[in-house]
Amino acid sequence: MDNTQARGAVELVNVTKKFGEFTAVNDITLNVRDGEFFSLLGPSGCGKTTTLRLIAGFEQPTIGEIFIHGQPVAGIPPYKRPVNTVFQNYALFPHMTVAQNVAFGLEMKKVPKEEIEVRVNNALELVQLPHLRDRKPKQLSGGQRQRIALARALINRPEVLLLDEPLGALDLKLRKAMQLELKQIQSEVGITFIYVTHDQEEAITMSDRIAVMHDGVIQQIGTPRDIYDHPANRFVADFIGETNFVTGRVAELGDFVTVDIGEPVLGTADGRNLSIGQEVSLAVRPEKINLYPQGKVDPRRAGMDMEELAALPDLPDGKVDMQKWLADEPNSVVLNGRILDVIYIGTDTRYQVAIADGVKLFVRMQNFGSRYDHQFTAGSPVYVHWAAENVQILTE
Ligand SMILES: Nc1ncnc2c1ncn2[C@@H]1O[C@H](COP(=O)(O)OP(=O)(O)OP(=O)(O)O)[C@@H](O)[C@H]1O
Ligand SMILES: [Mg+2]
Repeated sequence: MDNTQARGAVELVNVTKKFGEFTAVNDITLNVRDGEFFSLLGPSGCGKTTTLRLIAGFEQPTIGEIFIHGQPVAGIPPYKRPVNTVFQNYALFPHMTVAQNVAFGLEMKKVPKEEIEVRVNNALELVQLPHLRDRKPKQLSGGQRQRIALARALINRPEVLLLDEPLGALDLKLRKAMQLELKQIQSEVGITFIYVTHDQEEAITMSDRIAVMHDGVIQQIGTPRDIYDHPANRFVADFIGETNFVTGRVAELGDFVTVDIGEPVLGTADGRNLSIGQEVSLAVRPEKINLYPQGKVDPRRAGMDMEELAALPDLPDGKVDMQKWLADEPNSVVLNGRILDVIYIGTDTRYQVAIADGVKLFVRMQNFGSRYDHQFTAGSPVYVHWAAENVQILTE
């Protein structure tokens, strides 16, 4: 661990949690920075809630240490830790009004009445529900209830807020609106958020950094972009977004690595040590693949962008030879392919394309709504193209 980050808001150092023989959390080390929106992302049962409960103090590590703002918290009970937790179904007191619910924590701490009044108002302003202060929880929508639960946690001014799938019970549209709102509230109050979700899109939208978990083990920690563009392994590449996996053997090493998948193709190893003949998978994102028509075609139908169209030389017969044009681009791959299937999905069209040796790829191409959009149909011969830097070579 490097020293500049050594004292984050929350640190876990080699933390393992066993329930009997079963290991729910396996040797986790992570460092959440002050003010960060940090997500724990992974499928059901991977150990996310257990990790939060360890931080909150509801569970004790079997092995390892936890620090909050540099202080070891072993032996400190939950209510004495500078953290608050918002659960998926945060129970509001049904007989109390919204304002009374929000005030509850401060009443318990015997904070003076006038101060409580001011802080309740501020907390309700923050979640944009001051007008509902006198309602009872059953007179609120799911999203409003969730915001009140948030206000009730924030009013205690915790240093760290732990959120366990807080939007899980909401429908998709409301969840998306709340995602943006939560993110905004977090940057306003500057509190460190540790946010648990199994929804990769949610984690990508909201987080500064994400820890991807699987079977109690952290697979990768990074920014959403790191994780999406440079997945550490197949699990991460598969769990985040959509990926084609093509297996092959390393044929040649260099700035980019040549992999034999039935024919030679290029990808990037992201600094991994590879050896000739080693079996690897290529992770190819559907939107990083381009399809071009074969033969000599009208450039407006060639799938070029404006810049590329403008840069074309004078074409004697008004057509571009696609093979020659594509051959000019360094560090890229051009394969013969054939369209198997076309699915129009509004913003994009999804193609299934056959390339070498019975390998099939999913490809997504954006629809611009122009009459020159691609019109590939099942059976069309195409060139399948990708830039070597956009394709990751994975070893596990
Ligand atoms: N008190 C317990 N006793 C025994 N096993 C437990 C206990 N708590 C959790 N587990 C097990 O530990 C594993 C991780 O559970 P955890 O609740 O952390 O998963 P999760 O990632 O939060 O999953 P989900 O997305 O479904 O909420 C699961 O297999 C669960 O059955
Ligand atoms: Mg859980």
